[in-house]
Amino acid sequence: MWQAEGMTEAVLLVGGQGTRLRPLTINTPKPMLPVAGVPFTVHQITRARDAGVTRIILATSYRADVFREFIDDADLGIEIVIATEDEPLGTGGAIRHALPHLTSGPDDPVLIFNGDVLTGVDIAGLVRHHEATNSDVTLYLTPVEDPRAYGLVPLDESGRVIAFLEKPTTLEEIVTDLINAGCYVFRKSVIDSIPSGRPVSVERETFPGLLAGDSLVTGVVDRGYWLDLGTPLAFVQGSRDLVLGAAPSPAVPNPGPSLVLGGSQIAPDATVTGGSSVGRNVEVRAGAYVDGSVIFDSAVIGSGSRIYNSIVGAGAVIGSNCCIEGAVIGDGAMIGDGNELLTGVRVWPDTNLAALTVRFSSDRT
Ligand code: GTP
Repeated sequence: MWQAEGMTEAVLLVGGQGTRLRPLTINTPKPMLPVAGVPFTVHQITRARDAGVTRIILATSYRADVFREFIDDADLGIEIVIATEDEPLGTGGAIRHALPHLTSGPDDPVLIFNGDVLTGVDIAGLVRHHEATNSDVTLYLTPVEDPRAYGLVPLDESGRVIAFLEKPTTLEEIVTDLINAGCYVFRKSVIDSIPSGRPVSVERETFPGLLAGDSLVTGVVDRGYWLDLGTPLAFVQGSRDLVLGAAPSPAVPNPGPSLVLGGSQIAPDATVTGGSSVGRNVEVRAGAYVDGSVIFDSAVIGSGSRIYNSIVGAGAVIGSNCCIEGAVIGDGAMIGDGNELLTGVRVWPDTNLAALTVRFSSDRT
């Protein structure tokens, strides 16, 4: 892989509460949830490492202890420094808070990325573009089919960002399909200009402020793989794509139909398929069928149960002959035999659902 010459440092924003992924994020911050066998953060750190980053600042806030515990034991071939905000400072505030930990010179590029974005973007190419255009900030932009749910980032013909627009509400307001993909290169001195000690949104305050002040903000459009893992459905899709090899990660050296970690027992007539990821010490009992799902450590899938596109939390126990589809089962929950939980259902940690209490009607035959 081509490595960026000037770039050695990065800031990874991992301090958010991950509210859209509750209840999974009650015990574990989103970037530390296991995806294709390792915490999601590991996929991002190893991609940055392979692009030439040698030092990374983890900007933490919510459940910082979980990161610290993991990083103490991890050897990912890169220096990792943890910067923890006492109070969440937002995306821009977190970048500014990481500044004392950066050793780069004022004009050096610093890579910044959100902790929930899965992408195949050419990181080194992004930095090359940043340096060739002498930009103050370079944003990675991705086109989306339906831009209504996102803030839009239109470019002029030279690739210069001309506005940061709020979510469009009318057709006329959809002036581009390009959105901020959550990965940037900052000239280090631009980070100095972010106000310190108070919450700042990089999207709502820093970027519009740079445009108003005549800074050069450019965009690089990459049409490759991009996914924001913020919702349960996106989370299972991202994990599935990593396991199957549709999304690239150095932390998944051997993509295949499924990934089963050590200590797990899959009954001979059970099936684990469709890019499913099964953690450690999981039991998948006779005749069970697990498709496109993520099963965390020490969970049990009862005999004859079918699990589709779902997340089953650590230590959760699914009884026999259940059907779980597009659902999130919190850590330690007990789902009694024969329950049917369909799309959108979220079961809170340690909930105990008796046998056959929930059955939704479905068109599925
Ligand atoms: P939701 O609550 O589900 O929207 O998820 P989130 O908490 O991750 O928020 P969002 O997706 O808007 O955040 C984008 C990125 O910035 C994520 O990687 C967050 O971890 C990170 N982030 C958001 N707010 C803060 C903050 O106050 N401090 C730090 N260090 N990181 C933050």
